[in-house]
Amino acid sequence: MTDCILVTGGAGFIGSNFVIEWFAQGGGPLVNLDKLTYAGNLENLASIESNPAYTFVRGDICDAELVGRLFEEHHPRAIVHFAAESHVDRSILGPEAFLKTNIDGTFTLLQAARAYYGTLQGEDKSRFRFLHVSTDEVYGTLGPDDPAFHEETPYSPNSPYAASKASSDHLVRAWVHTYGLPAVITNCSNNYGPFQFPEKLIPLMISNALQGKPLPVYGDGQQIRDWLYVRDHCRAIMTVLEKGTIGECYNVGGNNQRANIDVVNALCSLLDELVPDSANRPHAQLITYVKDRPGHDRRYAIDARKIQRELNWFPEESFETGFRKTVEWYLANAEWVEHVTSGAYQQWMTSNYSDRTTVAAGGAR
Ligand code: NAD
Ligand code: DAU
Repeated sequence: MTDCILVTGGAGFIGSNFVIEWFAQGGGPLVNLDKLTYAGNLENLASIESNPAYTFVRGDICDAELVGRLFEEHHPRAIVHFAAESHVDRSILGPEAFLKTNIDGTFTLLQAARAYYGTLQGEDKSRFRFLHVSTDEVYGTLGPDDPAFHEETPYSPNSPYAASKASSDHLVRAWVHTYGLPAVITNCSNNYGPFQFPEKLIPLMISNALQGKPLPVYGDGQQIRDWLYVRDHCRAIMTVLEKGTIGECYNVGGNNQRANIDVVNALCSLLDELVPDSANRPHAQLITYVKDRPGHDRRYAIDARKIQRELNWFPEESFETGFRKTVEWYLANAEWVEHVTSGAYQQWMTSNYSDRTTVAAGGAR
């Protein structure tokens, strides 16, 4: 076995932050398997693309032959599985892709990992891990006075996205229980930070506000989410990878419950401060209440005491510090936002990776 890890979905929001953080912390070789759906963006990884320890493979996690080959070729010591369809609104409009990638894709990875694990011996075997990245949405919704989600909270997913993630979690659990696959699961709350696709609340609101477009707040805006800075999440995943107990789940959260309307108002105030010459000031005038999301979960909140107590992981960012960093990042990276909103990032990938399905650092393979 090598020191390599196999990452799925590493060109997406959390995955690309993870890959960057992995190398920043001196991590070993990393293979990134990503299909490059609309959510995958290789521009996110421009800073590490030429690192000789990095290999990019364009492909689908549902492709059993490809996934099996990657295990054989790279002999990874772990797989960190981010790849998913991740946007709740899209799951309401078209659930099929969610079932395919999130359920079938996870099943394909589990089967390949199980076959590979069966070939390992000694230290290679005891060291191998399958880390499945999941969400707090599997637990359903909370009332205003309910205690936060903990690892024993019963699953009660409400959206097609949440149901597909819950299904994948159950598959992982079953592969541990039945086949002895050494897997761990993380369930985290809403992430925010650099490279988030502007269909999710915070980057969408930043992008719209800068263009003077309406800021669409669903329903009464009193839904609560528990915000986690993405790099804190990435460090939590690395911690679970190295120290987590096989078969366990770890909830990851930043203890930052906020109502959506408060997040949007805070953003407007911050933009008023950071872009004082904007024609759109005060940005709060752009807030527009729109029809609610069907089946909209009212409140999420994470109890992260288990990962804190057992693995000594704590978030470094408060919502205020992480939020300011995030807004400043989007302001400093207007070109990235423009490429994503115009679709130019996909043309960039076509011209840079046109006839290659597999790209290793430094050239085609
Ligand atoms: P994202 O949508 O930004 O990125 C998903 C990535 O997976 C993209 O690069 C995409 O190209 C890739 N992908 C999609 N289908 C694929 C397939 N069939 N084969 C290979 N690659 C494929 O998602 P994200 O927000 O970075 O979320 C990453 C993971 O974290 C997901 O599993 C998600 O459920 C989970 N999660 C996200 C959040 C959040 O707030 N964003 C919170 C909790 C959990
Ligand atoms: O809780 C973890 C989950 O967080 C992840 O598993 C998902 O992958 C991720 O997308 C996120 O799901 P949400 O549905 O909570 O995120 P989203 O950014 O879509 O919405 C956050 C809140 O803001 C939610 O209550 C809906 C609301 N919203 C969202 C959008 C896009 C609006 O009011 N207006 C909007 O335009």
